[in-house]
Amino acid sequence: MNDLFLRACRGERAERVPVWLMRQAGRYLPEYRAVRERADFLTVCKTPELAAEVTLQPVRILGVDAAILFADILLPLEAMGAELRFTPGDGPSFPRPVRRREEIRDLRVPEVEESLGYVLAALRLVRRELGGAVPLIGFGGTPWTLAAYLVEGGGSQHFSHLLAWSYGDPAGLAELLDLAARTSRAYLAAQVDAGAQAIQLFDTWGGLLDAERWRALALPPLLHVVEGLRGRVPLIYYVNGGAHLLPVLRDLPVEVLGVDWRLPLDQVRSLVGPEKVLQGNLDPAALLGPPSEIESRVAAMLRATGGERHVANLGHGILPTTPVENARAFVQAVRRFAPESR
Ligand code: CP3
Repeated sequence: MNDLFLRACRGERAERVPVWLMRQAGRYLPEYRAVRERADFLTVCKTPELAAEVTLQPVRILGVDAAILFADILLPLEAMGAELRFTPGDGPSFPRPVRRREEIRDLRVPEVEESLGYVLAALRLVRRELGGAVPLIGFGGTPWTLAAYLVEGGGSQHFSHLLAWSYGDPAGLAELLDLAARTSRAYLAAQVDAGAQAIQLFDTWGGLLDAERWRALALPPLLHVVEGLRGRVPLIYYVNGGAHLLPVLRDLPVEVLGVDWRLPLDQVRSLVGPEKVLQGNLDPAALLGPPSEIESRVAAMLRATGGERHVANLGHGILPTTPVENARAFVQAVRRFAPESR
């Protein structure tokens, strides 16, 4: 039984720094691609046996210290009534984006067991199959990041619809954020009931906002979600491109802050204070370089925290072109270097 990850999240002293990778179940693994040849992405998400199988692949292949459920942050938006498509190569899309206050009326806070029961079934199955080998992480998007995809109708370069709405009718957008927050709160509580032992909140697009607007727009619905989970399991808030938000994040009531690679962790620490456990933050592109380079980058990352209050990870999801042996080199390097750095 390896509970290093949970102990580190709670800020307890652990014998070494735990390690896992964002998007560790994914296209860089031949075993994942083999499953995807048999089933499209949404089918894998919605078939608990397949979701469980790919969730366990990186635990077996890489030897990471945590499993993260195979699912997607956009699934609850579908449960709210939005049509969701995943087109190979193009990523996710919502054919009918929500861009005006009137369009929110077509959405609802779903009954979780009914519309997202497949996620809960997958969590239960993975917990059973893991048999305590490593902890299982559940996750969701923050209301702001969920709204970003629903308003744009998918990924976007400028997020001009979202940002136009945020300046033109912030109260209308707040209604959509509130709906996403109530949905996420119920959905993530149900994930904990089903066996998730930590919850990661992905704020992929939180960094679009300056600190003052993040506090005004993104924080209130995020707090609604966090308050529904607090004290039950460790919470990880991950933000991409959010270095300018760190002084505000100091006070966010979560145990763990996940950060990207743009600021070294000693500087992150000085901005967020001594309390938060930090998760990250190797540049995912570093795994495209040679193992010797990966090892020296990992050593630098671990020196920046001294191995204290740190969960090693990438600064964003692993890239699909990453060689599996490089992902393994990353995990091994953390395991090797961490004890010496204390
Ligand atoms: O981390 C894990 O291994 C668990 C599974 C997981 C997936 N998506 C599987 C996935 C997790 C935690 C996510 C989170 C997610 N999904 C985020 C937040 C993290 C981040 O990257 O910032 C976001 C923004 C999404 C939405 C999403 N899903 C996008 C934009 C895309 C297309 C881009 C891409 O990487 O292909 C997806 C598809 C997706 N989600 C894939 C996987 C393995 C690839 C789909 C495939 O197999 O073809």
